Amino acid sequence: MKDERFLRSADLTKKAARLIPAGCHTYSKGADQFPQLAPGFIQSGSGAWVKDVDHNTFLDWGMGLRSVSLGYDYSRVTRKVMEHVCRGSNFTRPSPIEVEVAELLTDIIPSADMVKFAKNGSDVTTAAIRLSRAYTGRKRIAYCKEHPFFSFDDWFIGTTPCDNGIPDQLSELSVPFHYNDIASLERIFQQYPDDIAAVIMEPVTGERPAANFLQRVRQLTQKHGAVLVFDEMITGFRFGLPGAQTAFGVEPDLSTFGKAIGNGFSCAVLAGKREIMELGGLDHPHTRTFLLSATNAAETHSLAAVQETVLEFREKDIIGHIERTGKKLMDGWRQVTALHGIGRYLQIGGYPNSPVIVCKDEQESPSLAFRTIFLQEMIRESVLMPYVSISYSHGGSEVAKTLGALDQTCKAYKKALEQGAQSVLVGPAVKPVFRKFN
Ligand SMILES: Cc1ncc(COP(=O)(O)O)c(C=O)c1O
Repeated sequence: MKDERFLRSADLTKKAARLIPAGCHTYSKGADQFPQLAPGFIQSGSGAWVKDVDHNTFLDWGMGLRSVSLGYDYSRVTRKVMEHVCRGSNFTRPSPIEVEVAELLTDIIPSADMVKFAKNGSDVTTAAIRLSRAYTGRKRIAYCKEHPFFSFDDWFIGTTPCDNGIPDQLSELSVPFHYNDIASLERIFQQYPDDIAAVIMEPVTGERPAANFLQRVRQLTQKHGAVLVFDEMITGFRFGLPGAQTAFGVEPDLSTFGKAIGNGFSCAVLAGKREIMELGGLDHPHTRTFLLSATNAAETHSLAAVQETVLEFREKDIIGHIERTGKKLMDGWRQVTALHGIGRYLQIGGYPNSPVIVCKDEQESPSLAFRTIFLQEMIRESVLMPYVSISYSHGGSEVAKTLGALDQTCKAYKKALEQGAQSVLVGPAVKPVFRKFN
């Protein structure tokens, strides 16, 4: 069905599918992740608001896959980025800003003596894995099964249903354990004595860590000589400064940051203890480790974005703002859905810093069809809410707008619960990114 609101989006979507595999460059931005009645292409953003190619305006909670932590076109960041762009942004030797940002980050990340920059989160999590293998001389990796994404590289994608093109011999080296199940990690250490190079996990997601769980993971890795890697791509600059490692008081050996750190500019960071990090350096007698090395890894304008973003987080109570906004949203959400009698079906959970929406069907099971209905109806009300990534630009009026949209959405959601999803759904339901077939 063609919707008058999305004509140019629909044309571009068709053209993109012909020219670009999956029609875009991040699977989670793809056409199979959004309802049919959705803006297909965004062309500008300001604060928490975006405009699509058909000139529709939306309140956005996706914020560039959680990367835009301050707001779109945030003037402090944009100004500094433009200054660096106009001076030339990539040179034949390093630029002083690389040292300045490294100093700033090692200052703000207590577990880090050294940092290394890259462009993508996947690059730095993969670098953490290689470094851990080099440091320990071991080959297996224990990864947390409940955490949805660490890297586009073979060591992780080989563990998903979408493992085509990855030899089993590689995937078999990645072994799953379960969040909040310390026994599952103990079993791995027993099963592969002296062969676990690293334990990699997000310190927290929507599920709260059980008492002492993170501390016990830390103790186990120390006992067995494995490197503990916290992937703080989502929790970083959201659960605390620098992230969940400080909020929960557990110090990893290596940690990885990206997304929020550059307010939408491309920068990811591997941060960690000198003893491990310096294996990638020039001043040691050991076998050399090829850590991270990329033509554009230290573009000055991206590092300027990181510098200004981090300083803004340090100078203002942005974490507090995110938490307060999240709490307002969660409280209001529960009131609105309860008023419609569907609080059990259209839930919001997790922490106020990073709330999690769960869409359930009439059996109270999580449902992609009902998720699609939620997205579709919120978009009808001009709210784009694939997940909840609160930025410094989201405040009281954005929460009020969202709760108004939610009120309307609840009516359609309730109809779908009573009369079936097909009575409301336009087009196909969204699909999981990690699936075997299209
Ligand atoms: C927890 C986590 N780790 C790593 C990544 C990979 O980051 P990037 O998309 O920048 O490669 C993501 C991306 O969504 C992520 O959520």
